[in-house]
Amino acid sequence: MSLLPTATVATIARHAGQRVTLAGWVYHKTEKGKLIFILLRDGSGTIQCVTFKKNVSEATFATAQALTQESSCRITGSVRADERAPGGYELDVEEIELIGPSHDYPITPKEHGVEFLMEHRHLWVRSSKQHAILRIRAEVIAAAQEWLNEQGFVRFDTPILTATAAEGTTNLFATDYFDLGKAYLAQTGQLYVESGMMAFGRVYCFGPTFRAEKSKTRRHLTEFWMIEPEVAFADHEDNMRLQEQFVSAIVARVLDRRREDLKVLERDTTMLEQVVPPFPRITYDQAIELIANHQGEVEGADPLPWGEDFGAPHETLIASKFDRPVFVERFPSAVKAFYMQPDPNRPEVALCADLLAPEGYGEIIGGSQRIHDPVLLEQRIREHGLRIEDYEWYLDLRRYGTVPHSGFGMGIERVVAWITGTRHIRETIPFPRQLYRIYP
Ligand code: 4AD
Ligand code: MG
Repeated sequence: MSLLPTATVATIARHAGQRVTLAGWVYHKTEKGKLIFILLRDGSGTIQCVTFKKNVSEATFATAQALTQESSCRITGSVRADERAPGGYELDVEEIELIGPSHDYPITPKEHGVEFLMEHRHLWVRSSKQHAILRIRAEVIAAAQEWLNEQGFVRFDTPILTATAAEGTTNLFATDYFDLGKAYLAQTGQLYVESGMMAFGRVYCFGPTFRAEKSKTRRHLTEFWMIEPEVAFADHEDNMRLQEQFVSAIVARVLDRRREDLKVLERDTTMLEQVVPPFPRITYDQAIELIANHQGEVEGADPLPWGEDFGAPHETLIASKFDRPVFVERFPSAVKAFYMQPDPNRPEVALCADLLAPEGYGEIIGGSQRIHDPVLLEQRIREHGLRIEDYEWYLDLRRYGTVPHSGFGMGIERVVAWITGTRHIRETIPFPRQLYRIYP
């Protein structure tokens, strides 16, 4: 016999006055003599279930007494509207069926250190704040994909086991690949998605990407999820326009559909409400100047000589001067990937942009126009010390009907950290992979 519930907490309003069966876990319980209040969590929300001794059998009352934190159970009762209840409804309990007991659940309402919680990540995801963050993550992913689908993009899946590097050779995870030598976990799907772009015009890939980065910052994971649109005939300006529309649509959808979760997270949404196009744009040169002019405002954001890449404190400082995400464009080619199109008027800078989130959440998007000339691309591959034979297929894309094209990659975890106001990126993915964490 199916154990499925006949209603869920999220849609309980539809069942006002009706008898329903809910199925879930005990989030919290209090006993007051003849009354037992069970806060039931069913994944869609929580609801108070009121067990009144005189309304239930002795066996059911005994079951209610025996329920402990995170015991799973099915509770049948009638749905009653109650203005004082957090969700507006309570359940008057008639029957309780214990499904799975839970003894000494490690995460109690008292404060735990983050290390302890990370060790228990498999259980921590049940807690209200983690639950809200991960629900918003799911919304961000759905919003991103649906928006692109509506704009005529085709999802084009790219491999995770790859033969080549795309974003530098110092942070590759390598594995033995039978008799063919080394394979590397993809740092990006971009090179492959460019092939799809030539077939479909507008494509995106979405999946996990890997960087063996020895950084312990609150913005880095070794495994993160990236969504990467790529558009034929689009130039650098088109690329930024697409990004600002994309990001604004995602934020608007979360504000529209996940208000309750943002409330659980006590997220001040003032800044998020302002996320509408156009986003401000500054050049790398202007950013260098801005950093020099605001010395001492953000710890670690010391002035930089032209040609150096920004650190996290620099990004925080730059972003703090704007009321919405800001594009920093035209970085020195030397600090960027080999495939970026040089500015024709100033070849030492690339037609690229990083999109920096407000409130100190750092770079959420990296993108650029791509080199479409086969000769220049080949030269760049050599200059980066990469083996040309590994990139023959990629060069083919320029040999057979090349077009100017552009694309970008948005890191899901960085975006979720920003939207949810989560300081550390490790809480924005169910199981973060970090320099010092592979368990659970
Ligand atoms: O700037 P990145 O390295 O760009 C690329 O990989 C391009 N191939 C994308 C493209 O043009 N198709 O990475 C893009 C984004 C960053 O802006 C950031 O949001 C995220 O990916 N990211 C990380 N997120 C978490 N941990 C890391 N170690 C990350 N590295 C990049
Ligand atoms: Mg980048």
